[in-house]
Amino acid sequence: MRDPATPIPVKERSGRRTPLTRLIVAMLGLGLSGVLMSCGGDSSNTADAGTSISPQVVAVDTVNPRHPGATLYSDQCSQCHNGNGSGNPQLRAPSLTTLDSWYVERQLTYFRDGLRGNHPEDTHGQIMAAASAKLSDDDITLLANYVDELPALPVSATLSGDLKLGKDYHLNLCAACHGSDGLGNEALSAPALAGINDWYLVSQYEHFRGGRRGTHPDDPWGAQMYRLAPAIPEDVVISIASYQATLPVND
Ligand code: HEC
Ligand code: HEC
Repeated sequence: MRDPATPIPVKERSGRRTPLTRLIVAMLGLGLSGVLMSCGGDSSNTADAGTSISPQVVAVDTVNPRHPGATLYSDQCSQCHNGNGSGNPQLRAPSLTTLDSWYVERQLTYFRDGLRGNHPEDTHGQIMAAASAKLSDDDITLLANYVDELPALPVSATLSGDLKLGKDYHLNLCAACHGSDGLGNEALSAPALAGINDWYLVSQYEHFRGGRRGTHPDDPWGAQMYRLAPAIPEDVVISIASYQATLPVND
């Protein structure tokens, strides 16, 4: 939930935008200053502009470099999740760009406090738990706000499930909590699944099924997924994730 006073309203839901219009909106939001500065240590985001709108619109995939969470994100998160939050499949670090601050805040707190990522078979969760170990509550709030503002990026499909089957399940089962658009529902505490890597969705689903996530007594939200997970066979989960990876991210 973004503070309305914060600049760069590029992720606001005011209709689908092309990269070019998103760039223009971003530049207006910043008073045209500093918009193309890289803030995440990702050199692909650096561009020499300010004078013209170059085709290197990839530069829009940053948050205001003066955002109070920018340095923290760049120093402690971007090496795995990428400067623009697109993630890194080699490191199994997921995309973050469609996640809302309330969900990120909860997950960072869970990782730090041992409610998530503490199972011996959850290797990647352990990596993220280590990355959160030293964060203060204030750091977590700043980072959650920063991640919330990352411009939403679509994900590339890596799985090839049955999209029709996946859509049926998504609409009949997952949409009740995660929304038919897959963009999440804060009132139900269910995060966005659109814009999240398909391989990551499957890995988390299987963590719920296996009790590696969602079984801590202080995690009532994960428990909902833990209870639901056995209802769906593994191959169907692949189809659901394949479908969810096709959902638009910036409507
Ligand atoms: C050393 C690599 C690494 C670093 C550094 C790192 N992460 Fe992660 N992060 C991961 C991995 C791997 C996962 C996937 C964990 C899993 O599979 O359960 C993850 C998961 C997450 C998730 C959960 C996403 C979801 O959809 O549930 C969030 C949020 C997150 N990271 C944010 C951050 C933030 C913010 C920072 C900076 C403090 C950070 N990460 C630093 C590797 C890293
Ligand atoms: C009863 C509500 C509910 C339903 C129905 C539901 N979910 Fe969830 N789901 C949640 C909640 C709440 C969370 C957040 C758990 C947490 O905070 O750790 C979640 C989290 C997830 C996550 C983890 C996302 C991440 O970024 O780590 C995945 C994957 C997921 N759900 C997939 C599904 C799929 C697939 C379906 C349909 C088959 C589904 N969910 C149906 C409530 C629901």
